[in-house]
Amino acid sequence: MMDNNIVKPLPPQSDLETKRVLKRLAAAHRALAELKGFADTMPNKNILINAVTINEAKDSSEIENIITTHDELFKAMSQINYNNPAAKEVVNYRTALWNGYEAVKTKQMLTINMIIEIQQYIEKNRAGIRKLPGTVLKNDATGEVVYTPPSGEIEIMSLLSNLERYINDDYDTLDPLVKLAVIHHQFESIHPFYDGNGRTGRIINVLYLVLKELLDSPILYLSKYIIRNKTAYYRLLQEVRLKGNWEEWILFMIDGVEETAQETLMLVKKINAVVEATAQDILKVLPKIYSRELVDLLFYEFYTKIVYLEDGLRVSRRTAATYLAALEEKGFLTSERIGRERIYLNKRLFEVVQQAGSNK
Ligand SMILES: Nc1ncnc2c1ncn2[C@@H]1O[C@H](COP(=O)(O)OP(=O)(O)OP(=O)(O)O)[C@@H](O)[C@H]1O
Ligand SMILES: [Mg+2]
Repeated sequence: MMDNNIVKPLPPQSDLETKRVLKRLAAAHRALAELKGFADTMPNKNILINAVTINEAKDSSEIENIITTHDELFKAMSQINYNNPAAKEVVNYRTALWNGYEAVKTKQMLTINMIIEIQQYIEKNRAGIRKLPGTVLKNDATGEVVYTPPSGEIEIMSLLSNLERYINDDYDTLDPLVKLAVIHHQFESIHPFYDGNGRTGRIINVLYLVLKELLDSPILYLSKYIIRNKTAYYRLLQEVRLKGNWEEWILFMIDGVEETAQETLMLVKKINAVVEATAQDILKVLPKIYSRELVDLLFYEFYTKIVYLEDGLRVSRRTAATYLAALEEKGFLTSERIGRERIYLNKRLFEVVQQAGSNK
């Protein structure tokens, strides 16, 4: 009998680009290109990335049963001492994502060290690669052990080096979306950490799309799709191992890219629309304080503070306070006093993001 617990180095020794795969690839690439094209036209990419990653952080953490609301998130993001563990974990996830993105953009590589760092941000500990045996993957419903990942730091590191090379060196000519599916499967099978392998693996997915220039900004996330199709996701991960069923797994991932690209495009358009509408409205009712920089600052996060305006617009504290008061008076923002600070919530943005995040 074949030992299903052995992880073989990449590349897989089978034909991955079957006819069905090739056919579906075309549609996924089209959807992805449309998303990339539209995102490229947005004047301030950080607004977009920030808004989209809030929901990704929330969804991805939810797979791990870390559940929180947008309201809690807003509070955790705006206050240093806010004490909601779930919301904090979601904020950590987003930090992990941002740092990973910056690293990939700068180095044009996705390395083992970056992956270790991402996991560290998520878990907020320095446990690193697994050293002790005993990690097993169970079927959530039955408790049955379905898979035992490799143990031993040397074995794990050697598989990770092999994966690192597969990610960065395109020595084969496979389509990057096919490789994405292979990479995700391999990473989850190596399961290098005690915890956080799922979330780290989901971040690797988007970073890989950026690395291969299928996207400029990290805005395509399969987490919501995985939540919706959780049973199939776990089953197919396992079927690659048990039956060599790469085809269904790859199709599953390609369909996820297509579906998610379409959904994200709708969200991106909504975000763009709300930014532009707000810009027009501010120009109309508060022409004296209007500037593009001001509008961008209001959309950078759900909320803003006096110091952000001071720094962003290089104005005095008093001027910044006057601007925010005027914006609140005209209904663009609602403020809340938290400790010694006043936080101004951008309701319009909050609502768009919240709405997109709630229709699973
Ligand atoms: N049979 C399997 N084979 C390979 N990988 C698996 C299997 N079952 C689950 N996994 C992977 O393990 C991940 C869970 O691992 P871990 O608990 O370390 O990560 P997490 O980030 O804490 O959890 P989650 O993914 O649930 O948010 C799953 O998301 C999945 O990708
Ligand atoms: Mg876990």
